[in-house]
Amino acid sequence: MKHILITLSILLTLQAAKAGEGMWLPLFLKSLNEAEMQELGMKITAEDIYSVNKGSLKDAIVHFGGFCTSELISGSGLLLTNHHCGYGQIQSHSSLDNNYLKNGFWAQSKADELMNPGLTATMINEIVDVTAQALEGVTDKMGVEEREATIKLNIESIRNSLVVASHQAIEVRPFFNGNQYFAFLTTTYRDVRLVGAPPESIGKFGADTDNWVWPRHTGDFSLFRIYAGPDNLPADPSEENIPYEPKHFLPISTDGVAEGDFTLVFGFPGRTQQYLPAVAVEEIIEVSDPNKIAIREKALNIIDKYMRSDEETRIKYASKFASVANYWKKWIGETTGLKKTGAISKKQKFEKEFVSMQTKDNPARNILGEFDALYAQRAPYAYVRDYYGEITGGRIVELMRVVGLAQRMTELYETRGAEAFDNFKGRVMGFLEGFYKNYDPAIDQEVFAALSEMYARNVEAKYTPEMIQDLSPAAEKNYGIIAMKLYSETAFVDKDKVFEMLEGDAEEVVARLQADPAYAFGAEWKNTYDTKVLEPYDNYNFKIDSLQRIYMNALMTTFPEKRFYPDANSTMRVTYGQVKSYNPSDAVTYSPVTYLDGVMEKYKPGDYEFDVDEKLLELYDNKDYGNYADRENGKMPVCFIGTNHTTGGNSGSPAIDAHGNLIGLNFDRAWEGTMSDLNYDASICRNIMVDARYILFVIDKYAGAGHLIEEMRLVRPKLEYTRNPKDEIKIQRRKRKANR
Ligand code: ARG
Ligand code: GLU
Repeated sequence: MKHILITLSILLTLQAAKAGEGMWLPLFLKSLNEAEMQELGMKITAEDIYSVNKGSLKDAIVHFGGFCTSELISGSGLLLTNHHCGYGQIQSHSSLDNNYLKNGFWAQSKADELMNPGLTATMINEIVDVTAQALEGVTDKMGVEEREATIKLNIESIRNSLVVASHQAIEVRPFFNGNQYFAFLTTTYRDVRLVGAPPESIGKFGADTDNWVWPRHTGDFSLFRIYAGPDNLPADPSEENIPYEPKHFLPISTDGVAEGDFTLVFGFPGRTQQYLPAVAVEEIIEVSDPNKIAIREKALNIIDKYMRSDEETRIKYASKFASVANYWKKWIGETTGLKKTGAISKKQKFEKEFVSMQTKDNPARNILGEFDALYAQRAPYAYVRDYYGEITGGRIVELMRVVGLAQRMTELYETRGAEAFDNFKGRVMGFLEGFYKNYDPAIDQEVFAALSEMYARNVEAKYTPEMIQDLSPAAEKNYGIIAMKLYSETAFVDKDKVFEMLEGDAEEVVARLQADPAYAFGAEWKNTYDTKVLEPYDNYNFKIDSLQRIYMNALMTTFPEKRFYPDANSTMRVTYGQVKSYNPSDAVTYSPVTYLDGVMEKYKPGDYEFDVDEKLLELYDNKDYGNYADRENGKMPVCFIGTNHTTGGNSGSPAIDAHGNLIGLNFDRAWEGTMSDLNYDASICRNIMVDARYILFVIDKYAGAGHLIEEMRLVRPKLEYTRNPKDEIKIQRRKRKANR
């Protein structure tokens, strides 16, 4: 008996030590996670987190613009998210004279809150397991195409069978690589206004140097408000709208956090790939990440040079630079972490175990061997795809972005006619208005020269457009001259010329677009790429995807006792863990909480990343922290870390305490652990959150926006807990009820 108890307790400690991995569907918390969560200190129930019948935490969690998470923190629709999530909106209201990026923005009353047409806030009303219906009639013998077609029809009928109100939408999504399906009933609000944002010197303190880094000192938050029609339902942006009244909003705890405290992060993680075979991870570490890193580094160095020399350029390029730099740095951390933790050999070992467990009467196909072959066949195309995608597809060579739009316009005209063309043209013109506001052709030309040279050097000539081919290294081409010629001849770098080109009927416009030299260059590049690279790539990739589905299914049947969680796919998930320090390298330990003292240590007057403004310096000097300082050491906390398993899209997610109160705002991960998208490792994977007390301090003491604090509900659960531990759960329940 004693023996069993000891083994059990060892097992439990092992479990607890590993806790953190997993992005769980809120629907299954009761059966899969509740016990472990309570073991870790959670005082509420799965039903308090996700319920269809009553208000629950999930009603306070809002998908922000489809790319970040946000949460309701007042009864009048006040929404908290990251500064970097609201960045585009803050920037769009900014100019040199009214520089909200630099000075911050605080609406003094609701009438001053700024509208952001196009920005959405989506709530999840219900999640339904529709696996059985989605896979009805699907058999193992079916070919991939037949399978897809059957599922598509099934999804259509699922959509028709679910009852939804006119303001709701349904989304049916595959999970576990298509082994399961879930439907999401959502409501999307369309009037979301900017309420407040700290200056960049707080909201983006440390900028790209500190991005993905712990110890961190960024107050990465901003405030918005959801507005609704008179019926509290979604409405188009209008002065008539009124603040949305939520079913639930998060109270904010001012008790702070300590090592070991339970934390729950609730949000919309974007994409992870936890179940890839070793061969795929190897390709990422050895080929894909290094190539993408090198390409971005080249572009970033050029843009940085211009940004540092001119303030206006800095404002123009700030958002683009941040987004290119973000994943550049993440990939560096990812490859480093994967190597350091021996991710590939761990995967290989696991795969051996998997293979050894396949039984005779269940002669699984040689899945891993098939993966090896398919990845090898795909490799040459994947290589070019990374180059082409990075250089032309994103924000790197901006001219190629405009060319891409022109290409789509012509394509639309040719396939769907003048009306479709005109519709799209209208949208393109709207986009271009904003695009040229932040465009500098001189920077772009230099980036183009550097990257077309890189492409020509590293990619085979048969995949390279003639203009930039370099077949004879002896007579090296001068890419500076090629770029200069192209940029002086094309109209696409000049807003007025482009709008002139777009005047008139579809046929004329298309003819003009096609006559542009950049168009011709882009078309040749795209054609070559589409036929010689993308087609074979897609062909292999399709096979890889369907093999991954078979592999996933085999994993789940081979290890029935293991709890599997689905990869992130921008749907609502819960992850939980604890506030926890870590050891990034030998003899180095990072404590889990940072303080305002650290901001002052990093302070570099005049530096665009590490400047601190007067007001904050003054508050610091006077230790004027209001009620928000740490109750034990009197210091002002800024950020903290935990073992929650998060990824891109979790930005702006609330960190929630054992009782269901907000204690922090997720905004990043520690660099050493960014590999958690491919291989979570509890020893070094940490998410980074802004401490709720810092947010309150900035709003209240720094910005003097006490009227916003009054809307919120501040609580002290630790205090109440020590007073009356047994009634704790009841107290919290009563509070949440009162909130509703
Ligand atoms: N790394 C965080 C995320 O992935 C923050 C990014 C924004 N900040 C920046 N300096 N680029 O979104
Ligand atoms: N900053 C990320 C985001 O925008 C979250 C950090 C992460 O990738 O974990 O979603």
